Amino acid sequence: MSSSTTTTTTSPSTNTESWGSRVGLILAMAGNAVGLGNFLRFPVQAVQNGGGAFIIPYLICFLLMGVPLLWIEWSMGRFGGKHGHHSTPFILDTMDRRSFWKYIGVFGIFTNIAVASYYCYLESWTMSYVFHSVAGTFAGMDQGQVASFFEKYVDVGVSTTGIPYEAVIFFLLCLILNTWILSKGLSGGVEKAAKIGMPLLILFGVFLAYKGITLQAGKEGALFGGSVGLNFLWTPQFDSLANPKVWLAAAGQIFFTLSVGMGTIQCYASYVSKKDDIALNAMSAGWMNEFVEVVLGSAILIPISVGYLGIDRVIELTASGGLGLGFRTMPFLFSQWGTFIGAFAGVAFFGLLFFAGITSSLAMGTPWMGFMQDEFKWTREKAALSFGIIVLILGLPTVLFFNEGVFDEYDYWAGTVSLVVFALAETILFAWVFGMTKGWKEINDGADLKVPSFYKFVIKWITPFLLIFVFVGSLIGPAGGDWGAAFAGLGNGEGWNLDNGSIIAQLMNKGIKQQIAATTDSALVESLESRITYINGARLLLLAVFLTAAYLVFVAYKKRIREGRFS
Ligand code: PHE
Repeated sequence: MSSSTTTTTTSPSTNTESWGSRVGLILAMAGNAVGLGNFLRFPVQAVQNGGGAFIIPYLICFLLMGVPLLWIEWSMGRFGGKHGHHSTPFILDTMDRRSFWKYIGVFGIFTNIAVASYYCYLESWTMSYVFHSVAGTFAGMDQGQVASFFEKYVDVGVSTTGIPYEAVIFFLLCLILNTWILSKGLSGGVEKAAKIGMPLLILFGVFLAYKGITLQAGKEGALFGGSVGLNFLWTPQFDSLANPKVWLAAAGQIFFTLSVGMGTIQCYASYVSKKDDIALNAMSAGWMNEFVEVVLGSAILIPISVGYLGIDRVIELTASGGLGLGFRTMPFLFSQWGTFIGAFAGVAFFGLLFFAGITSSLAMGTPWMGFMQDEFKWTREKAALSFGIIVLILGLPTVLFFNEGVFDEYDYWAGTVSLVVFALAETILFAWVFGMTKGWKEINDGADLKVPSFYKFVIKWITPFLLIFVFVGSLIGPAGGDWGAAFAGLGNGEGWNLDNGSIIAQLMNKGIKQQIAATTDSALVESLESRITYINGARLLLLAVFLTAAYLVFVAYKKRIREGRFS
């Protein structure tokens, strides 16, 4: 027997958190969304997908998938909160009587724990780089030296500056800070962090964007001498609309940057009061994220690096992933501005990344905490501490085996695939099972301005269709994103040539196996084979986390039945 939407038991939870103010709520939600993704992932995705070719699908995905998902998640959260639920398993359970939904809701706990485990590591680099910018470590280094600093840093055990196990130490510091803030609760911790972090982030961002667009380095500055960096991004290329690969990248970025499909928005929104305007709040937070991403995010990394290095070199540097540019190159470019401004720019850039990161990682802690507080009556402090410990245990493999691919594996399964799967499931639940009549009412209840009714149609038809397209595209995406060639292959008996990044090929380790087959170097073969072992280990670990969370949901459900608490 499961819950039904008609039962109206009052909140059984001892969880009495709430937001302090509307501004605080919006800043916390914006802080949740604005993250490392805005400054590191977005520009790199844009560069990799052809600049102006990327931006149109990106904006369309924002309007037709991002915005609807924001409304869906905010209203699901507030709806769940009314029934005393603060994490997705029982929020979903309340929306339909079929009992499997609560297990789909496990994604909203699993994903946060898994993403936090690598995200906090990344966040700890930004902390360390602030330290090194102040300490002047990068001053006088050439580009190669800055790059090798980063390589040593992630190759844990090799000391960069005499601090042993520096990467581990900063990771620990970062976790302790996160745990401490979380233990202070929503209004006393998370909201305060957002009120301090977000304005500073904007301030640093505006400074760097100003430097970025007025840069006169070489002949390819942003505004002077050809505007190459900005033109590259802002010259629309309409033919890209026909390229599914660019669409998938754009959709993936929208998910990651808005933090939809994660369960954090539902959790935050479950603490708003019943009559709060969610239609407008969701837009305020969502558009703030877009401002930071599209305006500030595109005015820093790309113009500065293109200004110094030229567009071709930047495309080359980002080909192997995004982190390189930020951590291996930027400190060197900043040092071109002289010792003082260089150090200040370093503090501004990595400080901005740190604030962006921490306001997001805090969000990732809240679904787990809400769940343990609601279901097992844990205190906030205990819930926060347990989150810190779990992330430490799961995060250490990403720190220690970064070069073996564990970090990327977490990012792929938790930070990319899970988001799409969960977003698709919750959209179907919301628009088709819960139904648009009730759903529309939930979105507009308490709204000062009504949502244009056009969106009723979008949420019911367009968003699920796009999500299915994205999911199928990620599952069986063909090599090089060339669907035409893949269908031709099917026709002429060569079979479907999967892209190495597609879910199925990834599961089969297709890319690594190809590398093994292509080499005769036995040392390389050995290292690639051990990479497969690490990657499979990482997957098992992630699976174990999911199953454990599902088991806890099962136990909580039995407990609810025993105690006669439904809804
Ligand atoms: N939106 C964050 C970013 O852009 C990442 C994030 C994902 C944060 C999921 C919270 C939850 O970096």
